[in-house]
Amino acid sequence: MSEETPNSVTMEKDGEVAVVIVNNPPVNALSWHVREGLANHFAAALADDSVKAIVLRCDGSTFIAGADISEFGKAPRGPDFNAVLNSIEAATKPVVAAIHGTALGGGLETALVCHYRVAVPSAKLGVPEVKLGLLPGAGGTQRLPRVVGVEAAATMTSLGEPIPAAKAKDLGLVDALAGEDSLAADAIAFARTKIADGPRPTRERKVFGDVAVIEQLKAANAKRWRGFDAPYANLACVEAATRLPFDEGLAFEREEFTKLMFGSQSAAQRHIFFAERQAAKIDGLPKDIKLRDIKRVGIIGAGTMGGGIMMNFLQKGIACTIVEMQQDALDRGLGVIRKNYDASAAKGRFKPEQVDQMMGLVTPSLDLKALADCDLIIEAVYEDMGVKKEIFGKLDKIAKPGAILASNTSYLDVNEIAAATSRPGDVLGMHFFSPANVMKLLEVVRGDKTADDALATAMAIGKKIGKVAVVAGVCHGFIGNRMLTPRQIEAQKLLLEGATPAQVDKVHTDFGMPMGPFQMSDLAGVDIGWHRDPNRIESIRDALCAEGRWGQKKQAGFYDYDDKRNPSESARVAEIIDEFRKKAGIEKREVTDQEIVERTLYPMVNEGALILAEGKAQRASDIDVVWIYGYGWPVYRGGPMFWAGLEGTDKIAAALESHGFEVAPLLKEKAAAKAGF
Ligand code: 3HC
Repeated sequence: MSEETPNSVTMEKDGEVAVVIVNNPPVNALSWHVREGLANHFAAALADDSVKAIVLRCDGSTFIAGADISEFGKAPRGPDFNAVLNSIEAATKPVVAAIHGTALGGGLETALVCHYRVAVPSAKLGVPEVKLGLLPGAGGTQRLPRVVGVEAAATMTSLGEPIPAAKAKDLGLVDALAGEDSLAADAIAFARTKIADGPRPTRERKVFGDVAVIEQLKAANAKRWRGFDAPYANLACVEAATRLPFDEGLAFEREEFTKLMFGSQSAAQRHIFFAERQAAKIDGLPKDIKLRDIKRVGIIGAGTMGGGIMMNFLQKGIACTIVEMQQDALDRGLGVIRKNYDASAAKGRFKPEQVDQMMGLVTPSLDLKALADCDLIIEAVYEDMGVKKEIFGKLDKIAKPGAILASNTSYLDVNEIAAATSRPGDVLGMHFFSPANVMKLLEVVRGDKTADDALATAMAIGKKIGKVAVVAGVCHGFIGNRMLTPRQIEAQKLLLEGATPAQVDKVHTDFGMPMGPFQMSDLAGVDIGWHRDPNRIESIRDALCAEGRWGQKKQAGFYDYDDKRNPSESARVAEIIDEFRKKAGIEKREVTDQEIVERTLYPMVNEGALILAEGKAQRASDIDVVWIYGYGWPVYRGGPMFWAGLEGTDKIAAALESHGFEVAPLLKEKAAAKAGF
């Protein structure tokens, strides 16, 4: 076997049963050589008269986890996947898939052309292609409804959530459960029992179930699927299975798959799949760097952020000490956490006793000294450099040696905070996004002196508590908020020139963002960062704040709100804008939606280019991850830097220049080469 052709599929014989074994770490993806190996070994097993049945199983931690996504978009190599699957299904001897770990996507499609499926109880089976902007394009949408029925097939393909083996057994997707430690032997024994029955090709089975579920799924998920093509394409294929003969259904599926595969949405979603995994890697650090042990976490501040941050750790069984200045604030903070957990328990997310267990992990205190035994301390008080420096100065004297001292600051200079201690190597930023127990993003801010193992530990603990952690350098607002600033500034200017808050916001929500700049401002609080002097009115925002229009919490901000927080356009805000426009001597004009895109979204790309060139983000895809997981950038547009490539960096640079922006040198470079980031 040459180096070119890895020996990723082998065959053994156990009496009259041939066992075809896939071994392609880490997840046994269906790379070209696996497809080739499957084709060759199945052909050999079929040609061997002494073989009466065939078992397909995998080595390593999992059954086949899908097509090899890294091959997508590249020149095809090796045999066509569908052809390989069709030949397995057409086998004249019974074929049994032996499933452990995850049988996903093309992996489940491979199991579906096997005539029978045996799985260990811990296995999971699913078709998550929709999450990559795709559909199961190797017969999955046609075979699944023939095995599990239309309801389950439509749900599994359009939502992409894997199901446990026991549920798969109930649905008929798994024929028998094997022993957790005896899969190989149990599958061979099962195969022997099927020799007399012979093959059972899935394509010859009948689709069953009620097609009405398809419209029900569309109605129930309308909000979640807004802007996405793939869920609808998955459902269209399942629907086609109910009325077309198998081969015609397969042709329909192929057509839909090809459209998705060569469209921009799937390219964006595949980009994010790899970007998310890449983000966890810290350039220049060995993968096996020794991490610090984190057994107890300290939180300073029991407000919305501090409480939300602590919830992440409690849910993972990590003990926490939380410190506040006043008893009533501490009680209030803990009360909110319990209320949140009770609400989740009422929805069935936790058992009531789990809530008690989690709350039992908390040690509340009014004294910073209580943090002395913590391995990681996260400060989550308000944004004031003086206050933060004072706290870190005190922590320096209290925290045990080697404890990581983190600030949840969203803008401030982590180097300056670190300088308030005698151990800047232990200091870094851990910037959570609100609500901190829900939002997946964590910016881990690396100070100039942050020790490598402290950084790696913060990234690892981020992953442990279910966050997508991204390394950011020290700069005002780090990656995410720094890019937000030019957007907000331009949005305000556009109001003066003639756009309305509703128009600007609609451009953003039509683009796929969960909310626009003014809706976001109203939700977060228009008064955040306001100087608090009602007589000093220098901007539209100052005027709003001076009148108490602080956003949703006051039922008035850039919009008016009713009791249920439903927004409506505000006549008073229109007046305020008019007054400012007059004062500034600006003539009102019509602002097009395209101009709003060019002046609010393109500057974000420009800022991203600066961030990259300054090394404040390790890679362009990290910036995309920040915007997808921290701000709800539509995943089907792949994040601002990926989107810049789709939109055309040359077009973006030219438009920015025409609007008077200074174009970042890196963006100019990309534009000249007509390249993406
Ligand atoms: N193709 C190529 N590489 C893959 C891959 C795939 N299908 N699935 C995972 N990998 C890689 C990851 O990029 C990662 O690489 P890295 O170590 O270099 O970063 C490595 O395998 C390990 O992956 P994870 O870190 O995600 O490992 P976990 O153990 O946390 O999760 C998993 C394992 C549940 C299998 C998860 O990787 C996963 O969900 N994979 C994608 C599954 C999927 O979407 N399958 C469908 C593919 S599309 C398809 O099959 C089309 C067909 O219908 C025609």
